[in-house]
Amino acid sequence: MSSPRTSDVLVIGGGIIGLVTAWRAAQRGFGTAVVDPAPGGGAAQVAAGMLAAVTELHHGEQTLLGLNLASARRYPEFAAELTELTGHDLGYRRCGTLAVALDSDDRAHLRELHALQQQSGLESEWLSGRECRRLEPLLAPGVRGGLRVDGDHQIDPRRLTAALVAACERAGVVFHRVRAERLSVAGGRATGVVTPDGTALAAGQVVLAGGSLSGRLAGVPQDVLPPVRPVKGQVLRLTVPPRYAPFLNRTVRAVVRGSQVYLVPRENGELVVGATSEELGWDTTVTAGGVYELLRDAHELVPGITELPLTETRAGLRPGSPDNAPLLGPTELAGLLLATGHYRNGVLLTPVTGDAMAHALATGELPDEARPFTPRRFGAAALSEQPA
Ligand code: GLY
Repeated sequence: MSSPRTSDVLVIGGGIIGLVTAWRAAQRGFGTAVVDPAPGGGAAQVAAGMLAAVTELHHGEQTLLGLNLASARRYPEFAAELTELTGHDLGYRRCGTLAVALDSDDRAHLRELHALQQQSGLESEWLSGRECRRLEPLLAPGVRGGLRVDGDHQIDPRRLTAALVAACERAGVVFHRVRAERLSVAGGRATGVVTPDGTALAAGQVVLAGGSLSGRLAGVPQDVLPPVRPVKGQVLRLTVPPRYAPFLNRTVRAVVRGSQVYLVPRENGELVVGATSEELGWDTTVTAGGVYELLRDAHELVPGITELPLTETRAGLRPGSPDNAPLLGPTELAGLLLATGHYRNGVLLTPVTGDAMAHALATGELPDEARPFTPRRFGAAALSEQPA
């Protein structure tokens, strides 16, 4: 493939958010390029792929809920479009989620979540421990109750990423398989990037979609640099041998001793168990303690898990932001847009991010549903307007 050094849109970062932005931009007719040494990598290679707008609802995050739900609603059509275009099966599974409680504290916490879901008009059903075990017979006898959320689905993020790479290739996106070392700025405008060997890649508009690395790109003016930080998550992959299938019929999750644990069963027999949440900078070491805690907590939920082969242990970095929500769209630097800070919701937010970014690239404005996520909410002017 040819590799022109000038494009209408240059996306820095070839993870799922950069890829979906590039694909949607190319579909709108922009000559689009992605700069990344290994497109298709990033946090999605580790993520479990829960599409959990309802079970991951938190107090104070109702605005983010709106965006999460908008993206969840788009998933069926988005997945069908990608599969039709590329022939890739995405492992999209509308299997629902069961959030369970193991003791009275957990149960009180889940009751609160249920109340918040109901206030927010979301569908979830309270079940007794016995009803939970009827749905999932391998649950521990100690499960005290749970929330059934049929609308929280899952997708295989590795398959999704591969499909997005294929979709970009078909749409004519150019891949520069190299690192962006520095943003180029001229005349008060972002004009492209420079790579480590000094090559200049020029563009009319630049999208910074570098996940947790987005806050480190040289050349980005300090007041525009996104306030994202890495939040480490260790994740395990096990295999369900055919004699134990189906093992679990849906995603099962809980908060055990204050830590989230979830078990995500794929149709192909993979069982993903996640995830730690650690503020340790750029460290991606898989630790004995991390693996131990995940297995211990998962075992308390589903004791039979210790029979399964453990096939992979890995750690990734979520791009955390100060309000746990993404930064989308134009910045105060002309020509520079952001698509980063998706934190725990990158896979869920992929469809709506692609649409919002394509809209922003074409019109200079975010669509209504994405407006609250402008990076300008963290700018000096916005922060000085807030009450002390
Ligand atoms: N959304 C799940 C996680 O970030 O662990």
